[in-house]
Amino acid sequence: MSSTNDPFHAVNDLLAGISAKVIVVDFHAEATSEKVAMGWHLDGRVTAVLGTHTHVPTADQRILPNGTAYQTDVGMSGPYDSVIGVQKEMVLHKFLTGMPSKFEAAKGNPKMCAVLVTCDPLTGRASAIQRIMLGE
Ligand SMILES: [Fe+2]
Repeated sequence: MSSTNDPFHAVNDLLAGISAKVIVVDFHAEATSEKVAMGWHLDGRVTAVLGTHTHVPTADQRILPNGTAYQTDVGMSGPYDSVIGVQKEMVLHKFLTGMPSKFEAAKGNPKMCAVLVTCDPLTGRASAIQRIMLGE
């Protein structure tokens, strides 16, 4: 398998060329199983593996055994009176009718999702990860 065909081999190649100790991997992917697997793949090799893309924050933040902070999805920053950021009426119209629907960004109930990772800058190992969701 070519190293450019999948993220697991590609990240091996990328890390071989990085000398920094503190490395944060934003794994922008859909499947939670792939993100969990990437956390284990990189445990002890990077400071944090943080999933993004699904817009829904997961509650599985933790420090893996070899010192990598991990969370399957950090969540979105945007309007939560919505369907992952889109006006809910537009999404419901599509689901209820099966017809294509124009999608526009919603506005209500803004929140910001993030994580706070504490690490040793000399080793790059994480010692804590905190899930954050800030409201209005
Ligand atoms: Fe995305």
